[in-house]
Amino acid sequence: MNAAIRAIVRAALDEKIETLGIRRGYAGLLDNDIIALGARSVSGIIHRGGTILKSSRCPEIKKESAVRRAAGILKARGVGALVVIGGDGSIRAASRIASASRGAVGAVCLPASIDNDIFGTDETIGFDTALDTAVDAVDKIRDTAVSFERIFVVEVMGREHGYLALDTALATGAEFVIVPEIKIPIARLSAEIKKEKSRGKTSVIIIFAEGAGNAHNFARELSRLSGYEVRVSSLGYIQRGGAPTGRTRILAAKFADRAVKLVSAGRLNRLVALKDGAIRDIPLSKIFDREKPLDRKLYNLVGNLGR
Ligand code: F6P
Repeated sequence: MNAAIRAIVRAALDEKIETLGIRRGYAGLLDNDIIALGARSVSGIIHRGGTILKSSRCPEIKKESAVRRAAGILKARGVGALVVIGGDGSIRAASRIASASRGAVGAVCLPASIDNDIFGTDETIGFDTALDTAVDAVDKIRDTAVSFERIFVVEVMGREHGYLALDTALATGAEFVIVPEIKIPIARLSAEIKKEKSRGKTSVIIIFAEGAGNAHNFARELSRLSGYEVRVSSLGYIQRGGAPTGRTRILAAKFADRAVKLVSAGRLNRLVALKDGAIRDIPLSKIFDREKPLDRKLYNLVGNLGR
């Protein structure tokens, strides 16, 4: 997010557009916690995780009254465009605020989430960084798995979707991946593990997406059915922080550049996206209530390569 904030401020300066920063996300907007941002306020942050503006979860912004109040605050500050760096909920709120402002404030959104679950874009800001963190952690866990000939369930984030789990599984050579989108009966998994063991496999790594259920209950049941000892390692919040990868920083810069160009051209209420390697922008109305599909071919590839 810092890399995106820096790029937005600097690109806007180039277009002679003044930038304000809203602190603590929508909670800060509703508190009118808004500060001026200039070239120097975003110095030295490109390599830092998190956000200098801070963030929050703001359930209140789901209420119509809060949306109207937010639109009023922005109008009163003379804001013409609300640039949001965030996930599904943040993007939806931005669109509703734009509608409530009756044309006074437009929204331009940069998809950002470690879950990579936003329809319309192949990649979100932060995903590559979280993936690298997860891969590094699983590589280390594999040392114990291999040396002690154990089965590990490694839980990665992904509240509703398994994109991070799937890519982590592929990148670490995991034997199995469990995602919310595809249900596999645990008895079948147990049978497959037994088959792999009988063929000489001594250790097994199962990447488990948080949204697929409770990893500990899953491991207990797998252990009961298979007769093997199963250990769980939950990667948790280490996936949500740390220095962004080069790829995340570049994506943030490209998204920010397109977002500012959209604002400058008055092409508002759009999502900036990466599609087939190119930066695009699509109307916000086209992304709501659409599910980004999980790549079944990649899912099958984990199985094919991991046995
Ligand atoms: O929404 C993205 C995400 O990273 C999820 O994968 C995760 O469940 C969640 O955020 C964690 O955030 P919080 O601590 O606010 O629940």
